[in-house]
Amino acid sequence: MTTTVAVVTGGSRGIGEAIVRRLTRLGHAVLFTYTSDESGTDHVLAHAADTGANVLALRCDITGTDAPQRIFDAADELGELTVLVNNAGITGPIGPLRTATDDTLSRVIDVNLTATLRLCREVVTRWESRPPREDRSIVNVSSIAARTGAPGEYVWYAATKAGVEALTVGLAREVAGQGIRVNAVSPGTTTTTIHARAGRPDRAAQVGARTPLGRAGAPDDIAAAVEWLTTSDAGYVTGSILDVTGGIR
Ligand SMILES: NC(=O)c1ccc[n+]([C@@H]2O[C@H](COP(=O)([O-])OP(=O)(O)OC[C@H]3O[C@@H](n4cnc5c(N)ncnc54)[C@H](OP(=O)(O)O)[C@@H]3O)[C@@H](O)[C@H]2O)c1
Repeated sequence: MTTTVAVVTGGSRGIGEAIVRRLTRLGHAVLFTYTSDESGTDHVLAHAADTGANVLALRCDITGTDAPQRIFDAADELGELTVLVNNAGITGPIGPLRTATDDTLSRVIDVNLTATLRLCREVVTRWESRPPREDRSIVNVSSIAARTGAPGEYVWYAATKAGVEALTVGLAREVAGQGIRVNAVSPGTTTTTIHARAGRPDRAAQVGARTPLGRAGAPDDIAAAVEWLTTSDAGYVTGSILDVTGGIR
């Protein structure tokens, strides 16, 4: 039987690492990207080796002009590409909009939105040129910030995630006729190092305490929803944004 392949952007730690583990357990070979996190990547690859999972790490900034080509050429070498998870994302330093530099605004838009659009375009183009299958799907990782707008924290990040949700809904309808499903998971605050990178290491604990379920999300809470959306159990689900927020709306 042909090996199926899943691509996960940003798989070296956090939510992406948990997604990589779950998709390998489904039997996929998984290719993930990262830009500089060598120690996280080593950790993910060591776990894969221990469990006999087929995982390839590609050091590749998803904003690069040739990134979609590089990523999917490498994935095609592993087998039959059936899943794309657009997970890589950044916030920039926490603060009100007036404190954000032009570099922060353009970098966050490039990573979170433009790269996601370009990766979606490339994978859909490849799939449309191949014989049809019923197991092709894209899952985009959005954020509750798309709805709250993240005032005082990172409204620019929220804006990119609102864009990701709009592209999810539109692309889902555009490619449904080809049997390709497109969905998004919208996590609430989740315990990863993204908050320390934004300058607020204690943010997940603080938000978790005022979340209806009484805690921040764990990366695997989010990965479980992503996994489900890629499976045939979600075969009638497309254009959906699935909240995984512990009850925050
Ligand atoms: N954690 C939360 O509270 C939360 C809540 C809602 C939504 N989300 C979303 O969930 C997703 C994952 O977040 P996380 O918290 O797991 O973040 P994280 O712990 O900071 O991990 C981000 C991953 O993406 C990679 N990455 C970043 N920029 C990249 C680029 N340009 N090209 C390729 N890889 C890149 C990072 O590796 P390198 O550092 O090596 O590039 C890393 O593997 C993001 O889309 C985020 O917006 C997170």
